[in-house]
Amino acid sequence: MNSKAIYPGTFDPVTNGHLDIIQRATKLFDQVIVAVAENPKKQPWFTLAERVRMVEAAVDSQKVTVIGFNTLLVDCARQHDTAVVIRGLRAVSDFEFEFQLAGMNRRLSPDLETVFLTPAEQFSFVSSSMIREIAQLGGDVSAFVPTVVMGALATKLTD
Ligand code: COA
Repeated sequence: MNSKAIYPGTFDPVTNGHLDIIQRATKLFDQVIVAVAENPKKQPWFTLAERVRMVEAAVDSQKVTVIGFNTLLVDCARQHDTAVVIRGLRAVSDFEFEFQLAGMNRRLSPDLETVFLTPAEQFSFVSSSMIREIAQLGGDVSAFVPTVVMGALATKLTD
């Protein structure tokens, strides 16, 4: 059986923590679709096309496909014939939101299962908004993001 999972997020920008989750997912599934959400309510720093490109450039696996989406996640999963959603759980504080999201997605699409993966310990405190803030204030984020994101942050900050 060809197993497939979808890993949604805003990825504004993608971090090494996200990449760690993607790599773990590729060990469990034959195909992993990284679905970058347009998510206007978060007012992303990077455009959807920029976020998709950064994930594409950072991932080096034949098993991974990167897409952008602006629909309900359940519809995107259905459209890509996927019955498994991957989400990362970094700390207990993530749990409440993730529990709500998984519950609502199951209600909207009863056959959709959410699988939680935990990132390596050194990424358990990384978040995209922290990366943006540190970079904006001149701090070094090179331990937390791939090279392509370092370049994109530098460009964004000199624009
Ligand atoms: N490493 C680093 N950071 C991580 C991480 C990891 N492994 N896992 C989560 N994060 C961080 C992200 O960087 C982000 O940080 P920020 O808020 O500081 O920017 C935060 O955790 C949560 O981000 P993410 O995992 O990208 O989730 P999200 O809340 O931005 O996205 C969607 C949620 C996109 C999955 C959800 O809004 C969705 O499905 N939208 C589609 C529309 C829809 O179906 N809505 C109804 C849902 S019931």
